[in-house]
Amino acid sequence: MLISVGGSAGTTQYAEAILREARVKDTKDNMPRKKVTVIGAGNVGATTAHLLALKGYCDVVLQDIVEGLPQGKALDILEAGPVDAYDSSVVGTNGWDETAGSDVVVITSGIARKPGMSRDDLLSINKGIVESVAKNAAHKSPDAVIIVVTNPMDAMCHVAQAASGFPNSRVIGQGGVLDTARFRTFIAQELGVSVREVSAYVLGGHGDTMVPLASYTTVGGTPLSELLPADRIAQIVQRARDGGAEIVALLKTGSAFYAPAASVVSMVDSILLDRKRILPCAVRLTGQYGINNVFVGVPVKLGAKGAEQVIQINLTADEQAAVTKSAHAVKELVDVMGVK
Ligand code: NAI
Ligand code: 2OP
Repeated sequence: MLISVGGSAGTTQYAEAILREARVKDTKDNMPRKKVTVIGAGNVGATTAHLLALKGYCDVVLQDIVEGLPQGKALDILEAGPVDAYDSSVVGTNGWDETAGSDVVVITSGIARKPGMSRDDLLSINKGIVESVAKNAAHKSPDAVIIVVTNPMDAMCHVAQAASGFPNSRVIGQGGVLDTARFRTFIAQELGVSVREVSAYVLGGHGDTMVPLASYTTVGGTPLSELLPADRIAQIVQRARDGGAEIVALLKTGSAFYAPAASVVSMVDSILLDRKRILPCAVRLTGQYGINNVFVGVPVKLGAKGAEQVIQINLTADEQAAVTKSAHAVKELVDVMGVK
C-alpha cells in the first residue's frame, strides 16, 4: 500500500486508510462472506445496498423489476469500492438466480401513495408486489431472514410471511428503529446533547398509531421526564409520529430513505454478525403484550437466527392501551387484504 501523507490531515487520511484495510482483511479472514439481497433498487433499496457494501462483510444483490436500474446502480456502487476500500461483490438483476443462497433478504419494492389513490389501492398494489417477490426470494433462499420495509410495513409482513412460508423468527419488519432514531434526534436537538446520549424506544405499528415510550427514554441515564416538561415531551412525541410525513412534505416527490436505509442496515448487522442487539422491530406476536397473531413493533433480540426473542417490558396502562390500539389498526389492514 503506497500512501502519500503530509501534515495532520495526511496523517488522519493514513490512519483511516489503514483502518479500512484492516476492516476488510479482518472480515475476510474471520468469516465467510455473507450474502444480502435487496429487492427494490429505488431510494431505500439502493441506499441500503450502498451502506451494506461499505460495511465490507457481505456481498450484495440488488433486484428490481425495471430493466437496467438495479444493474446500473449495482455497478455504480461496485465502482466506489476502490475508493472506499471494500471488495464486496455488488450485482444488479431483474431475475432471481443471482439471489440464491442469501442470508438476508430486504424487501423495499413497492409504490408510494399518489394523488387519487386510496389507502386500499396502495395496499392491494403493494400486496401483489410483496407477495410475488417474497415467494421468489424464499424459493431461492429458503434459509434467509426476510426484513420487510415496504409500506404499510406491518401489514406487508403478514403478506411476506404468507408468501414465503417462513417461521415467525425469520420475517421481521423495519419501522421501530427508524421511528426511534427520529425520536432520539428530536430529543437530542431539544436538549443540545449528542444523540448517542439519548436512549429510547418507539413501539407499535409503523404509522400514525406508533407509540414513543417517554417512560423508557433517558438522556445520559436521566429520565426524560426530569429534563423536560410534559407538554414539551408530548410535542416531541407528536413530531416523531409525524416524522415520515415531515420528510414527505419537504421532499414532495418521495419519502425518506437515508435514515430508513441506515435502520435496515443496523438490523442486518445484528443478524449477520449475531450481535443480539435489542431493537424495536415488527414481529408476529404470539401473546406477548396481550396481542396474538399480529405483526407489531416491540423490542426484539436480533441474532443469526433472526428474531430470537421478544423482550417484554413493563408498560404504563396508557402505553399498553396505545400498543393494543396500534395492533388493531394493523389487523384492520390485514383483514382487508384477507391474509393471515
Ligand atoms: P422507490 O419508488 O424509490 O423504490 C421502489 C422500487 O421498487 C422501484 O425501483 C420499483 O421499480 C421497485 N419495484 C416495484 N415493483 C417491483 C417488483 N415487482 N419487483 C421488484 N422491484 C419492484 O421507493 P422507496 O422510497 O425506496 O420506498 C420503497 C418502499 O419502502 C415504499 O413502500 C415506502 O413507503 C417504504 N418505506 C418504508 C419505510 C419503513 O420504515 N418501513 C421507510 C421508508 C420507505
Ligand atoms: C417513513 O417513515 C415513509 O415509512 C416511511 O419515512
